[in-house]
Amino acid sequence: MAYRPSNRQRSRWAISLLGIRPADRVLEIGFGPGVAIAQLVRAGAGHVYGMDHSGVMVREASRRNAAAIRAGRVTLVRASVEQIPPALDGPFDAIIAVNSLGFWPAPAERLAELRQRLAPGGRIAIVYQPRCAGATADTTRGAAREIEDLLRGAGFTRLRTETLRLSPPVACVLAAVLGLVAGIGGLVPGRRLGPPVLVILGHVRVEERGAARCP
Ligand SMILES: C[S@@+](CC[C@H](N)C(=O)[O-])C[C@H]1O[C@@H](n2cnc3c(N)ncnc32)[C@H](O)[C@@H]1O
Repeated sequence: MAYRPSNRQRSRWAISLLGIRPADRVLEIGFGPGVAIAQLVRAGAGHVYGMDHSGVMVREASRRNAAAIRAGRVTLVRASVEQIPPALDGPFDAIIAVNSLGFWPAPAERLAELRQRLAPGGRIAIVYQPRCAGATADTTRGAAREIEDLLRGAGFTRLRTETLRLSPPVACVLAAVLGLVAGIGGLVPGRRLGPPVLVILGHVRVEERGAARCP
């Protein structure tokens, strides 16, 4: 698959926004040739999982990430986001999808299902760069708003949208599942302290009608 340098740049940027930590279990949906999978490994993720429904993409991404697969750091599965296999049940600390949501059937439902697979404190990044002819910054902004609405509709909270100034610009809509556990000393984000007393879960929503029209 031909791969544009800007694709590499946008996924590296989005991964930097996710703030990957060493023990993180990260899922990428629609990994294509597997460039972001390799970037996630380099970013230090504990284990990187990926799903793509294209056998061609699974083969290409597996070749690209062969060493990390052998080392037990990467698991790539041929599967559709509408039928997530048990191997990808999670929980995950982070989920990322780059120019993929626009292809998903019923993205609001998909997002609600993905939210269930995030660990407390987990986060999601939905990345979109319009690739249709004549796309502008307005196209990106409109799609980002739709993604935000989708995420809210699926129950996600704490949305934040960042923009990378490529041509056309890239939007990354981020959200986090809040994991506040009360222990001695108060509420600690994303950590379990002693017997859990209180867990507050929030969610991230992603949206995608604009992306579906212009993937
Ligand atoms: C436009 S490509 C983006 C690839 C890569 N994320 C990138 O930024 O270069 C979209 C990818 O999503 C995958 N995809 C589309 N619909 C899917 C679905 N329902 N479930 C899983 N993967 C899907 C395609 O096979 C393709 O690899």
